[in-house]
Order: sequence, then structure tokens, then C-alpha cells
Amino acid sequence: MSPQLRIDARPLADGAVPLPRIALGCGNFGGVGSAPAFFGQGLSPAAAMALMDAAWELGITHFDTADAYGGGRSELAIGEWMASRGVRPTLTTKTFNPMTGAAGAEHGLAPERVARQFHDSRQRLGVDHVELYLAHEYDPDVPLSDALGAFERLRAANAIDAYGVSNFDAAELREALDAAPPTPPRAVQNGYSLLERGDEAEVLPLCARSGLAYIVYSPLCGGWLTGKYRRGAGYPAGSRMTQRPEPYAALATDHTFTALEALEAMATARCTSMAGTALAWLLSDERIAQVVIGPGRPAHLEPAREAIERPLTAGERSQLMEVFS
Ligand SMILES: NC(=O)c1ccc[n+]([C@@H]2O[C@H](COP(=O)([O-])OP(=O)(O)OC[C@H]3O[C@@H](n4cnc5c(N)ncnc54)[C@H](OP(=O)(O)O)[C@@H]3O)[C@@H](O)[C@H]2O)c1
Repeated sequence: MSPQLRIDARPLADGAVPLPRIALGCGNFGGVGSAPAFFGQGLSPAAAMALMDAAWELGITHFDTADAYGGGRSELAIGEWMASRGVRPTLTTKTFNPMTGAAGAEHGLAPERVARQFHDSRQRLGVDHVELYLAHEYDPDVPLSDALGAFERLRAANAIDAYGVSNFDAAELREALDAAPPTPPRAVQNGYSLLERGDEAEVLPLCARSGLAYIVYSPLCGGWLTGKYRRGAGYPAGSRMTQRPEPYAALATDHTFTALEALEAMATARCTSMAGTALAWLLSDERIAQVVIGPGRPAHLEPAREAIERPLTAGERSQLMEVFS
């Protein structure tokens, strides 16, 4: 058995939930995120079990899921794992996306739907209480104060420790902070990595000013920062670029490959994988409360170990900022 990682935890603004800086992303259990076209695909129940065992053994004690991941299969897999292993990681789950691929399937943040979806999430997970509950997307069809009111009621009833939002831009976050019922959202979860830096100008400073915990998803930009995609080469069979390439299609440029080659050179010099150095870059930013990793198999956990054990120097950090600017 490999020794456990010592993973720091950061409390949310009101001290309610200590968030470990690394969380296990369970978006690939029984699907590829919330996309209905892949429900029933992704990691099999046995592969998900093996990944949760390996993550827990490594010392990762916070798991990230959503009602719609795999159409409910991700929450079910976590629930089955917790029951069979007799352990309880702290949990983030989310709601917004439809649970089926049917045309016009119900989705969104209508207060009664949030309450119903939360009830169903608890059933699938087999828990009474969830530590962090997120609005998975901004819903233009529901006044934000109504939507957040539903989350606040769950918090007031002690069913969750804290609530937050996901995929909100700076304007939407400002609206959430202004609209919030008695307790404001405590966290935002957005995509951020060396290759996806959209939140740098406004969202990260806003979070730091407002005491909102900033949680990163897609820290390896869907696998691009692992080096598995090479200039002039085809995408490896079974990789995300062969399954769900749309979100990353714009990355396939000479500029990206040049930056990735520089990352590879630095990672080699530091004796880590490219992914280990890319995760270390995120952990070196004190404004980032948590990084949700998305391993596809137990071996993919190794970069998290490298990132914790081999922190970046200030010089390496600024070199990477320049290369990926
Ligand atoms: N709030 C949201 O809207 C939202 C959106 C996306 C994700 N998330 C959460 O964040 C988690 C992580 O996001 P993500 O899956 O996009 O993360 P990611 O780390 O950017 O990408 C994960 C993909 O990278 C590849 N990968 C990961 N580690 C690897 C390694 N060590 N070596 C080689 N390939 C590796 C795997 O791709 P292959 O499949 O090609 O092997 C894996 O499917 C999700 O599980 C989910 O919990 C949230």
C-alpha cells in the first residue's frame, strides 16, 4: 500500500466545511459528465469502485459528483461504495442538467425541482446530509434569488453544510452575491487550468474579495495537459478526444502544442509527469480552495501525489504563466 498523502483542507468562509485541496471527480462514473449521449458508458461500476478504493487509500477524502453524471449512475456508484466499504467521504453534488436524453427533459433551478433533485441525490448516495450542494449552471429562466432560496432552505434545514454555484461568470457571480438570501453562496466551481484561463481576470479576484471558495474542475483540461495528445498525431483510442471532443476542439493549435512541449521539458527536469506539474501549478495558487481531479483509472492518481510532494518554485510558476499566456 502506498503511503497516504497529507492533503491540506481550507475552511469555507463561515468555517462550515473544511474543503480538502484535492477532491476525486466522479464525473466519469457511468457516463462522460452530464451528457445524455454517454449515459451508461464511461467507467463501469467495477472500475469506479477500484478508483474510489485507490483514491481513499491515497488519502483523498472528498468526492465530487452531480445528479446528472451518468444519469444518476455516479451518485449510485458512490452510495454503493460507501455502503460496502463503511466509510464516508465528504461530498459535493450538484443539480441543473436533465436526468434523461428525452427531448425537452426537465432541467433547471426551479425551487421545487431543486428540492426534489436533492431528495433523489440523497437517496442515490444513501446519506442524510451533503457537505456542499451546487447549482450546476446559471438558469436564465428562474430568478436567481428564487433558485438560491431553495439551496438556502436546505442549508437552514441542516441537510447541507453550504451551497454554491458552478459555471458562473463574473457578472453571474456578482448577481448571486447581491441576490443571495440570508446566507450567500460559499463556493464556485469552474473550469480552470494552464490551458483554460478565462477566470483569471475577473472571477478569481472577485472570489478572493468576496470570500467565495474557488474550486477548479477540469484541471488537466480534459487530458490535454497530460501529453496524451501530440502534434500531428491521432488521438489515442478511447481518450476523451475520441469521445467528447467538442469542448476542447479549439485547443488543437500549434500554439498549444508549443506550450505543451515546454511543459513537458519542465516536468522532465522536475522528475514529474506533465500532469503532476500542471496540478502543482494550480496548487501553487493560494486563491484556489480545491482542485477536482478526473482520473480515469488508479494510475491516474499519481500526478496528484507528485503535485503535493513536488510544489512549484515561484520561478517555475512564473515560467509556466509566461509559456501558457
Ligand atoms: N461543474 C462542472 O460543470 C464540471 C465539469 C466538468 C468536470 N467536473 C468535475 O471535475 C472532475 C474532473 O474534471 P475532468 O474530468 O474534466 O478533469 P481533467 O483532469 O481535466 O480531465 C480528465 C481526463 O483526463 C484524462 N486524465 C486524467 N488524469 C490522467 C492521467 N494521469 N494520465 C492520462 N490521462 C489522464 C482522462 O482522459 P481519458 O478519458 O482520455 O483517459 C480523464 O478522463 C469531474 O470528474 C467532475 O467531478 C465538473
